[in-house]
Order: sequence, then C-alpha cells, then structure tokens
Amino acid sequence: MFSNASNFVQGVDTSFAIILGASLFFLVGITGVMVYFVVRYNKNKHPEAQDVHENKKLEITWTVIPTILVLVMFYFGWTGYEPMRKIPEEGIKVKAHAQMWSWQFEYENGKYSDTLVVPKDEAVILDLISRDVVHSLYIPAFRIKEDVVPGVNNKMWFIGQELGKYNIFCAEFCGDLHSKMLSSVHVIAPEEYNVWYNDTTQPEIHPGLVVLKKNACVSCHSLDGTRIVGPSFKGIWGHEVEVITNGEERTVMVDEDYVKRSIYDPNADVVKGFNPGLMIPYQNLVTEEEVNEIIDYLKTLK
Ligand code: CUA
Repeated sequence: MFSNASNFVQGVDTSFAIILGASLFFLVGITGVMVYFVVRYNKNKHPEAQDVHENKKLEITWTVIPTILVLVMFYFGWTGYEPMRKIPEEGIKVKAHAQMWSWQFEYENGKYSDTLVVPKDEAVILDLISRDVVHSLYIPAFRIKEDVVPGVNNKMWFIGQELGKYNIFCAEFCGDLHSKMLSSVHVIAPEEYNVWYNDTTQPEIHPGLVVLKKNACVSCHSLDGTRIVGPSFKGIWGHEVEVITNGEERTVMVDEDYVKRSIYDPNADVVKGFNPGLMIPYQNLVTEEEVNEIIDYLKTLK
C-alpha cells in the first residue's frame, strides 16, 4: 500500500485503509462485547430476564455515529475517485484497442505497440476501444480500472510516477482466453520515451506478420502448430482442410479465396473441430492489400 506508482495510489489507498480500519475496529469491538455479554449475562449470574424499553440517548448515539462514519468513508472514497474522472486536456494520447484476447496500443504518430510505454511524470490519456466484446483495462499498481465497451468511447488517464514495469489485466470476463489477456505498462524516463516514440522503423519482419500482429490474429492462431482457439497457420498454405459450411462437411484448398473468405467472413467455413462465432469479420479492419501480405507470409510458414 501507499506506493507512489501513479497519481491515484494515495487517494485509493487512503480510503481503503480507512474502511479496513473501521471494519477491523468493529469486528474486534462487537466480537469482544458479544463474548463479554455471554459471560456477564448468562443464566447463573443473571437468572431473571429483564425487559428493556426505549433508551433515547443510546438510539441517537447508534444513529449519529454510523452516519458520521459512512460520511467519512464517502468523503475519502469520493476525493480518491473524482480526480480519475477529471481527464486533463493535455497529455499523451494513446488509443487502447482491446480484442479477444490481447491489447494493442496506438500512438498519435501511428506507432503500434503491444505494451504501453509511457514517460514518467506525464499525463497519459487512454482512449478505450473494443473491437468485439466488453473488456476492462486494469492496472492494479496504478489503482485504475475502466470498462472497454464496443461502440462507447470510454477514457481513462494517469500519471506514472515511478520508473518500472507494471501488469495490465483484462478485468471483464470476455471468453476462453480472458485470463491470458495480459500486457504491461512501462514507465520510462522522458528522454528514453522520446527516442522510443520517434523510432517508427518496423523491426525486420515480414509485412504479413506485421498485419497479423497488429490485428492480434496471433493470439488465437499460432505460427508453430500449437492449437489455441483457432487453427494454427503453420503449414496450411496449399493444403486441404476439412471445414463445416452451413452444417455440411466439405474439403477445401487453402488458397487465396479461402484465406480471404476466412478473414472477411470467418464463420462461412469453420475448420472441423473448432468453434464458430469466436472471430469477428475483419472486412473493415484488414484491407485487400493486407490480405495479400498475409497470404505471402502464410506461404513462408512451412
Ligand atoms: Cu478481455 Cu477479459
């Protein structure tokens, strides 16, 4: 508790400590009084039961004290929460794309990254975008969490105040690999960040693989033959596969048409043994040119 990892830690931890403290105080206090009463008023020591009528002082006390207590809790809860909703105008704007089951961060200069890299002591404003279902971006060390809802433009912000690497989780059950929908946020020195941000050269990888990574295809389709959610890409090019088309089994060749159809209309032909409905159509997300790059890449995966 009470790290300085983000500008929200103090506020959240203070209210947590106050609520925890009050709960502990009453847990110990009430249990103690109960035990005392059991002993003090048991039948041997106190044979005659007594009828107790109203006691104004006592009633006012047990109304006023809890009221003050919950108002104190509310005050600290609110002052911890409110700054999270006051999103500043100025800051580093990053689009956080969520999809089953990975995170992609898109920077203002068009740079993509699968980890969130931010400079220390600067406001970062995240635009939360979902390509499919409801996810939730959660950075426990920063004490922030916000739903990522398709069609709704949610936002969140923070200032990373300590250098380091912190976990990002998805905190909304979003299907099979929800628990594997992980990433991290790296808080680095501002000079280091400027170098990282301005380096937009792509590493020496196949342009088709860039497309597959950008669209997180590889979180469901392995490149090495491992079975994940969808069929692996390894060695499929030019081979025949058994698919289910409108409930009928048939054999098709993995060629240009098949790959394109699988990307734009993924539920048309579903490879036997895999579940339909898990992949969204990428008609508006992957251009025809990119499909060709993917095909080029698949040819290399022998
Ligand atoms: Cu995304 Cu759970």
